Order: sequence, then structure tokens, then C-alpha cells
Amino acid sequence: MPREFVTLQVGQCGNQMGSAFWQRLCMEHGIDKDGILEDPSIDGEDRKNAFFYQADDDRYVPRAILVDTEPRVINNILASPFARLYNTENIFMSKDGGGAGNNWAQGYSIGEHVYEEIMEMIDRETEGSDSLEAFMFLHSIAGGTGSGLGSFLLERLTDRFPKKLIQTYSVFPNSQEGDVVVQPYNSILALKRLVTNADSVIVLDNAALSRIAGDTLHIQTPSFDQTNQLAATIVASSTQTMRFPRAMFTDLTSLVSSLIPTPRCHFLTTSYTPFSSDQIGEAKSIRRTTLLDVVRRLLQPRNRMVSAPISKSACFISNISIIQGDVDPTEVHQCLLRIRDRQLANFIPWGPSSPQIVLGRRSPYIHTSHRVSGMMIANHTAITPIFKRMLDQFDRLSKRNAFMEQYKKFDDIMTEFDDARAICDDLQKEYKACESADYASYRTPAEEVQAVA
Ligand code: GTP
Repeated sequence: MPREFVTLQVGQCGNQMGSAFWQRLCMEHGIDKDGILEDPSIDGEDRKNAFFYQADDDRYVPRAILVDTEPRVINNILASPFARLYNTENIFMSKDGGGAGNNWAQGYSIGEHVYEEIMEMIDRETEGSDSLEAFMFLHSIAGGTGSGLGSFLLERLTDRFPKKLIQTYSVFPNSQEGDVVVQPYNSILALKRLVTNADSVIVLDNAALSRIAGDTLHIQTPSFDQTNQLAATIVASSTQTMRFPRAMFTDLTSLVSSLIPTPRCHFLTTSYTPFSSDQIGEAKSIRRTTLLDVVRRLLQPRNRMVSAPISKSACFISNISIIQGDVDPTEVHQCLLRIRDRQLANFIPWGPSSPQIVLGRRSPYIHTSHRVSGMMIANHTAITPIFKRMLDQFDRLSKRNAFMEQYKKFDDIMTEFDDARAICDDLQKEYKACESADYASYRTPAEEVQAVA
């Protein structure tokens, strides 16, 4: 039974990234901008129905729900060549709304008023699926809508669909040149929901996306359009084994359970190499792509979609490379031996863990010049400094009470901040604890208190 996904894209970033994602998916499945199969004579042996359903006129329609509190971005999508792809019944936007003003609390409280309308769309999509497996959630955690309204929707989704997985693709702000001054407040409040309400979070760090896009294209300041193409490749590749099934990870549950051994540590990082020009404009070419070259590059910190210093003690909790292209299965064993011999990847000391390599299938609808390409999804303790940095930035801003007035209009926001801060702090402590051999006996401060009582 094919497993299906409903995608929710929320706020400016969520919708812009989502729009790039759907264009990518159409290309990989040979679907044109109007949802029509380009060449019915090609049998892609793909599961188009994981992300699309077929309308009565045979057009493929994304199972996507587009949500924004201001009309500009969604209107741009509706004015683009892909306008006819989407089901317009699945669009929620405040026609004259001015957005959530980069304020989490504003976005969250809009949720109370618009919830019924959005939930009706979600219910329609889920009821129209034969075997829904998960929700994919695309948003940024730094603004007001993706972060605040996104938090509200994540809470409601968990309540209403407790048995469905929720995987988010969460854009973390660039900590150096953040364009939202209150991003530390918004981020920490959204992070609480990512810890409590999501099963798996793919972290896309804007600093790393810009660096990698710049490096791939040889430009200094890439546009959102360009970074979103990278992000779209990541979102698409992370679902490759479900859309072009082979032997392993043909559903999300099996992938998530291999990557996430303990429930709270579910923040995943990704790498992809090499990018080709069908993915991002005039990508610079890489001459040699053997399995070992690709896996080595995937392991290099500079290719990771998060920017954080890596300490000596940092290690992988899990690591899966999904490889596409021309690879002889016997090469896989050789490659794994090389990685082990050269100690290219350190793993946790408390469990039997090692790199995994999965050979995926390429889309037959796209021709790429690279013999082999790959994506790595990893659970790595090197994510800890990102949470630490968020806490430091939050503490600096809240100590000065800066911009707090805008948040105090909302009930109980101070308790909300304290709670979110504590959850974020526990998260970074738990990721740090994963580096030690006695992690199995680790308890959060709250669990300690419970144990003593
Ligand atoms: P409001 O504007 O307050 O209604 O909330 P919003 O969720 O629509 O805001 P937005 O999505 O713009 O979130 C702001 C954060 O997202 C900032 O860190 C931006 O740098 C980042 N951002 C905005 N658009 C994009 C995008 O298209 N791609 C990427 N990668 N980041 C984006």
C-alpha cells in the first residue's frame, strides 16, 4: 500500500520554499506545470501518488496546503507558470492581512481564529488519501507566521492525528545577519513545538544554505530563489526512497526509526553533493563522482546544511547516505570499510551505530551529468551549538527586556518564554549527553525531579 503525505507550507519562507519543492517534484516525476504527465510512454516506476493525487481529468495535483497571513507570496505563486498546479481550495491567506509582524505571539493568536478553515482543508486532504503516513511541514522559525501560526498548527495536528508522523523542514535563521531583530524570541517559542509536537525535524540553517549556494554558484550573496532551490533539492531527496522505491526506506517510518533512537533528539542535519545545474542554476561542475568521493564529501562539515563549530567530542548518533546513480552494490561494502579504516565518522559510544549507505533509484525523467550523487541525513551532536547559540541570543535580548512590549499583549507569555527556554536548554543538554558512554542512564532535570519524588 503506497504511503501518502500531506504537505503544509506556512508563511513567506514556507511558501517560497514549498513552491521550489513542487517545481522540483514535478520535474522528477515528469509532470508539467499544469499537472499533466509530459510523456506517458515513460514508465518511471515511481510513486507519484505519495505527494500528488489525480484529479478527474487525470491532472496530478499536489496534496499541499498553502497558508499565509498576508497575500503577497501566495499571489506570486498564483501568478507564476505553476499556478494551475495547485488546488485553490487548499489555499488560506488573509486577503488584506499584513502578516504576523514578525511576532510569534501574533501568529499564534491568529491560529485561534483561522484554525477551523485550515483544518477543513487538512481533513479533506487526509480523507482523500488511501493510507496517509505523515505530514510534511515547511516553515521558518524566525518570523511570525511560519513560527507562531506554525506552532499553533503543529499542536493541533498532534492532537487531531496522534498516529501520523509529523516531519518538519524548519529554516533556522542566520545568526550573524538575521533580518528579524526578535528572531531569538520567535525561534525559541517555535523550537518548543518542534521538540514536543514533531517526530522529526530537518534543520535547514539559512547561514549554511547561503554559504553552500554561494560556493556552488561562485557568488557572494545568493538570493532566496537560489537558496530555496538547494532547500527544495534537500526536501525532495529526503523523500526519494519513498517516491522511487527500491528495497529500503520505502516509507518514512522506517527512515525515521533508523535515524532517531531516542524521541527528543530528533533534529536532523543534511548534506547533498554534487549539486547539478538542473538543481541550481549554473552549478560549478565536479569532475569525479565515485561512491567513495560522494560519501566522503557528504561527511565533510562544510557540506552540511547547518553552520556550527564542531567540537572534538561531537559524534554521529546515526547517519544514512542515500546514493543515486551508477553504483555497483559491491562498492558499498568497500566504501564502508574505507570510512571505518580512515575514521571518517565518529559515532556515539553507547550503541551499535555505523554509517549506512542505501542505493536509491534516480528519476528517469531527468538527465544529470553526474555519475553518482548523494544525500546524507544525520543525527549529529554537532547540532548542540545551534541550540546553545539560540539560548544565548534569547538571554541577551530578554535580560534587557528588549521588544518585550509587543509580546506582553498576549496572556501568559512570560510563562511561555520560561517553559520554552527550559525545553531548549534540556534539548541541548541531552544532545551533549549523547556524547558520553552513560547516556542510557541520562534523565532530563524534570525526570530527575520525578524520580526523586
Ligand atoms: P510574518 O512575516 O511575520 O508574517 O512571518 P513569516 O513566517 O511569513 O516570515 P518569514 O517566513 O519571512 O520568516 C522570516 C525568516 O525567514 C527570516 O529568517 C528570513 O531570512 C527567512 N526567509 C524568508 N523567506 C525565505 C525564503 O524564501 N527562503 C529562506 N531560506 N529563508 C527565508
